[in-house]
Amino acid sequence: MKTPMARCSSPKRSNALPRAVAIALLIIMSAFPVAAEPSSDRQVELLYFLKHDCGSCHGLTRKGGLGSPLLPETMAGRSDDDLTAIILDGMPGTPMPPWRALFTEDEVRWMVRAIKQGTWRK
Ligand code: HEC
Repeated sequence: MKTPMARCSSPKRSNALPRAVAIALLIIMSAFPVAAEPSSDRQVELLYFLKHDCGSCHGLTRKGGLGSPLLPETMAGRSDDDLTAIILDGMPGTPMPPWRALFTEDEVRWMVRAIKQGTWRK
């Protein structure tokens, strides 16, 4: 007589589900590529840059200076795409310079999230 244990240890049965899940995950991940996160070392550099370089115009406490405030409160309603474009290309006619030469688009997107989440405050 077959015991429940014998049924569970059948190799066909125990492999089928994880394999289907793995294949489904691969298909989902390739259909919706996630923006590459900067490495943790790079994240430290980006936060340092936000504070000291962006902060030289936007204020070390982000409350504004020559540039407008960059606080979660003031940036909440703004689209990530718009803010990313402003940072990459600057704002012609204002002192806001383009930063495309220094950062990749993924890095700027990460910085926009840091600004909106207030990570830059720490
Ligand atoms: C030389 C001074 C200067 C530096 C450095 C600078 N900015 Fe700006 N930034 C400005 C000015 C001036 C404006 C536009 C004027 C305004 O909106 O008050 C601006 C506008 C912006 C805006 C749009 C704000 C809005 O409300 O529309 C964002 C976002 C921004 N800067 C982010 C950054 C980031 C991120 C950095 C660092 C990578 C940076 N800035 C560095 C001066 C600067």
